[in-house]
Amino acid sequence: MDIRYNLPYQVMDIHDAIRTRRTIAKFTDEPVPPEILIDLLSAGIWAPNHHLTEPWRFIIIGPESRRELAGRFAELKANKVPAEDVARRSRVHAEHERKFQSIPVIVAVASACDGDEIRRREDFAATACAVQNIQLAAWAEGIGVKWSTSGLIRDPLAYRLLNIDPAQQEIIGLLFIGYPAEIPVRDRKRPLSEVIRQVP
Ligand SMILES: Cc1cc2nc3c(=O)[nH]c(=O)nc-3n(C[C@H](O)[C@H](O)[C@H](O)COP(=O)(O)O)c2cc1C
Repeated sequence: MDIRYNLPYQVMDIHDAIRTRRTIAKFTDEPVPPEILIDLLSAGIWAPNHHLTEPWRFIIIGPESRRELAGRFAELKANKVPAEDVARRSRVHAEHERKFQSIPVIVAVASACDGDEIRRREDFAATACAVQNIQLAAWAEGIGVKWSTSGLIRDPLAYRLLNIDPAQQEIIGLLFIGYPAEIPVRDRKRPLSEVIRQVP
């Protein structure tokens, strides 16, 4: 399915974007133009946010940091394989390092964690809204995103590599961004009728 419309004169209807957007795991090699990336991230900053805290922070991962993060990503994945299975460990490491390196664009998203627990929760929610804005804006341009919450986002080394102080900001995800090589078919298990009720 080609979801790309003839931009900029025709844009995908918001309802189509919401319903047809899928999390994309496989990307083509086509690069995402930097100006389009900036355009997508700028959709993020229009998300709703209580007290206008604007808690979102976007970190575009350059080649040097990506190399280091790829190594760490692969290491964390390989660590899940029993230590005695050396061959499989090394295979898993190589596979994940290659996979991480092949993602066209990676953006880390962090959320400021100032203030009390209520503020932190609201800021997290606002940053999640920003991510969805980005995902939908991307989809409307034929670009797919995966919001990844792999172990890397909780890893102290990743915080150091990205120069993020965990006392000030929390990484809420890595966005893997690129043109889809495959669009999975996914449904929702619960229809609206199962999750909606009215109170008198
Ligand atoms: C907070 C959050 C974290 C997610 N983390 C991952 C992840 O680590 N790996 C992954 O493959 N997908 C991740 N996803 C994507 C979900 O797996 C995906 O949204 C879900 O399977 C529904 O598919 P769809 O987005 O295509 O509708 C995450 C989604 C959200 C909202």
